[in-house]
Amino acid sequence: MDRPTPDPDALAPTAPRSPASLAWWQERVLYQIFVPSFQDADGDGFGDLAGLISRLDHLSDLGIGAVWLTPIYATPFEDAGYDVTDFTQVGARFGDLPTFDRLLAGLHARDIRLILDFVPNHTSDRHPWFRESRASRASPRRDWYVWRDPGPEGSAPNNWLSRFGGSAWTHDARTDQSYYHAFLPSQPDLNWRNPEVRRAMHEVMRFWLRRGVDGFRIDAAAVLAEDAALRDDPPNPDFDGDTPPPERFRRLRTDSQVVTLDYLAELRRVVEEFPDRVLLGEVDTAPDKLPGFYGEGTRRLHLPLNYRLLSVPWKAAALAGAVDAFLDALPPGAWPNWVLGSHDKARIASRVGPAQARVAALMLLTLPGTPMLFAGDEIGMPNVPVPVDRMRDPFERLVPGYGLSRDPSRVPLPWTAGPGGGFSAVEPWLPAPCPPPVAPVAAQARDPASLLSLYRAVIALRRRRPEFRAGGYARLRAEGGVFAYARDLDGVRGIVALNLTPSRLEAEVGTGRILLSTRPGRGGACEGRLCLEPHEGVVIAA
Ligand code: GLC
Repeated sequence: MDRPTPDPDALAPTAPRSPASLAWWQERVLYQIFVPSFQDADGDGFGDLAGLISRLDHLSDLGIGAVWLTPIYATPFEDAGYDVTDFTQVGARFGDLPTFDRLLAGLHARDIRLILDFVPNHTSDRHPWFRESRASRASPRRDWYVWRDPGPEGSAPNNWLSRFGGSAWTHDARTDQSYYHAFLPSQPDLNWRNPEVRRAMHEVMRFWLRRGVDGFRIDAAAVLAEDAALRDDPPNPDFDGDTPPPERFRRLRTDSQVVTLDYLAELRRVVEEFPDRVLLGEVDTAPDKLPGFYGEGTRRLHLPLNYRLLSVPWKAAALAGAVDAFLDALPPGAWPNWVLGSHDKARIASRVGPAQARVAALMLLTLPGTPMLFAGDEIGMPNVPVPVDRMRDPFERLVPGYGLSRDPSRVPLPWTAGPGGGFSAVEPWLPAPCPPPVAPVAAQARDPASLLSLYRAVIALRRRRPEFRAGGYARLRAEGGVFAYARDLDGVRGIVALNLTPSRLEAEVGTGRILLSTRPGRGGACEGRLCLEPHEGVVIAA
């Protein structure tokens, strides 16, 4: 008797799927490229699109299936390109539209999809829209941004704080009003309540979708709209001497507003005008809000990016608990995703150390759902200290003393052992230490014991064995330093066992054949009790 085909929209996130039913963004490994630090081709010290084209072999050899590029648009670069002056132009430092088309064709020829960063919340203050808006209260574009009369004696209209420090309002003497900015004063927020703004941004998406991009990562997706009544934020009860000042209040009035979900549903409809595209989103929100970002009944983001593993202690029970909590928070049909690094976070190799970085790789690539790998993590790039006189991230300057600079995870990637690491012929925009902090890509590619070789091997294993892409998920064990789980598909069971400690451990995880280990050269059978070497992770075919 034929089994009825389950409705994918009703499936629990831990249930197995039919591999043939998976969309590309569900089964592929996604790879985030921080473009300014990937590869410089034109010799200005900034990574660019031509540089990226010259590194396509690295992407194919790694086996990833899609790239997300951080912003490549025209920008004064006050926030690494997240300050855009023209959403439909490639910034001169990154290249031009013909080079973009060549990159897209080159990626597609290798069966790699391209996801662009879409920055809808704000523009640069040098964007023509903002110049017009700020020119006069009567400007037709006045309402494209969020302008309000100042409070008494020129004070801010309310207590909202910029995520980068200070008030979220900047007073503009010309028209004696203040504009709202969730981030830098030079990043004024667009007024998403204005339908003209929404239409204009939909057109931006269509421009790139028509060119052939496969989707977008929506920057700051949870903060598009603010409370219309401008009510103050309440105090943050967890605020103490160690909390950075921008976190003094709880962002109840500017984060995750209900109407923002409607705007995301609109963006989804735009994307769905084109076949087979994807919407990822930067959504740093409470677990109870997560289902809304996926959509309950209404379709919103395919993948609200999940950074939870970065903030839990690197211990078996805590990681297993974070995995369960995330999976439990998902609505039926939602597809999980996992992130261990980004241009906004500390490098995983520094957080957990080089030995555990191998365990982290195995976990990222075998948990149920889509893995997102941050370029550089495949070679174990650590945080690289950046001297004060070379600092580029405005965050550190504006909120000093809390170690908030994102520069250390943004330095250029080392490709070769030579000066500049093969990144650029000139001194790069952020320092490229020489010798590089880890063996460069070229050396790791030749070394079967390198982290890069491990990443390649696990990604290849995912391709070969559908249980790791589509299998159900069951936690087997999360105590005594070992986190182990099974991925089950049509009677085939894959087991992953991770030793999160520096000790040799024994664990009961099931019997089978060892397919892969984070320790090169390990193989053989596993009969009942498995011996895990310090910092070892293994994959077993049960
Ligand atoms: C997002 C980006 C971050 C940027 C901010 C403002 O959080 O990931 O890098 O600074 O938005 O655009």
